[in-house]
Amino acid sequence: MPPKIVLITGANSGVGLATTKVLASASNDYHVIISARSLSKAQTAKSERARDFVEKEFGHLDALINNAGSGNGDPDVYTRYKTCMDTNVIGPAVVAEVFRPLLLKSSNPYSIFVSSGAGSFGRAIERFNGTRDKPPEPKNGGAYHVSKAALNMIALREHQAYVDKGLKVFAMSPGFVVSNLRGTTEELRTGWGQAGPASVAGETMLNILDGKRDADVGKHVYKDGVYDW
Ligand SMILES: NC(=O)c1ccc[n+]([C@@H]2O[C@H](COP(=O)([O-])OP(=O)(O)OC[C@H]3O[C@@H](n4cnc5c(N)ncnc54)[C@H](OP(=O)(O)O)[C@@H]3O)[C@@H](O)[C@H]2O)c1
Repeated sequence: MPPKIVLITGANSGVGLATTKVLASASNDYHVIISARSLSKAQTAKSERARDFVEKEFGHLDALINNAGSGNGDPDVYTRYKTCMDTNVIGPAVVAEVFRPLLLKSSNPYSIFVSSGAGSFGRAIERFNGTRDKPPEPKNGGAYHVSKAALNMIALREHQAYVDKGLKVFAMSPGFVVSNLRGTTEELRTGWGQAGPASVAGETMLNILDGKRDADVGKHVYKDGVYDW
């Protein structure tokens, strides 16, 4: 069996790096193409150049993991919303659209949007009602929550539009894990000492790509189950 071709954005740190390591060490089943900043920049031309490269090298794509994300909490409201929307919404929308034709050439394609429980309306209501614990949150975190809610709609719409063509779409929440998302100080990287290892997110991704979560296609999944939208 030839390896499955997987492209992951934002793979130089945190969840993306951990996922790359888990996939690469799990077996020879996966050939992982990692991309850093340029593909996450919400620029169609750059995405198209990358798509042309993948098409020339491999002819198709088996899995696209839209992972790059920003937790920008700039004191300036325009700056934080612009950064979060560009990185967490427009970037994944562009990358998904540009690479979709290559995914549809795969016999078993996966499109995974790395989202967050922060983007779930159901969980937000539970937190407000006090029926769910409120995890620690960096200052000015609202733009991030809003952007992940929008990303969830991108995932749901892609699922509804392409499920009949065999595309398996997931929004995937990695959990509260160590990374640079909240900032680069030790305190922020470790989520005030409460964040788990990023490898946990990598294992969840491996389970999805191995087909173990296929019953949850079209949903917002996390390690142990499914979140409300
Ligand atoms: N860590 C958690 O607890 C947690 C929880 C829920 C969801 N997530 C999601 O997991 C995904 C990965 O994040 P992470 O936690 O691994 O954080 P991370 O370590 O900060 O990695 C984020 C990746 O996105 C890239 N990126 C950030 N801002 C960008 C921008 N403006 N333009 C282009 N690329 C940009 C980063 O590139 P640079 O390294 O060059 O900045 C990096 O490659 C994100 O979608 C995040 O929302 C994480």
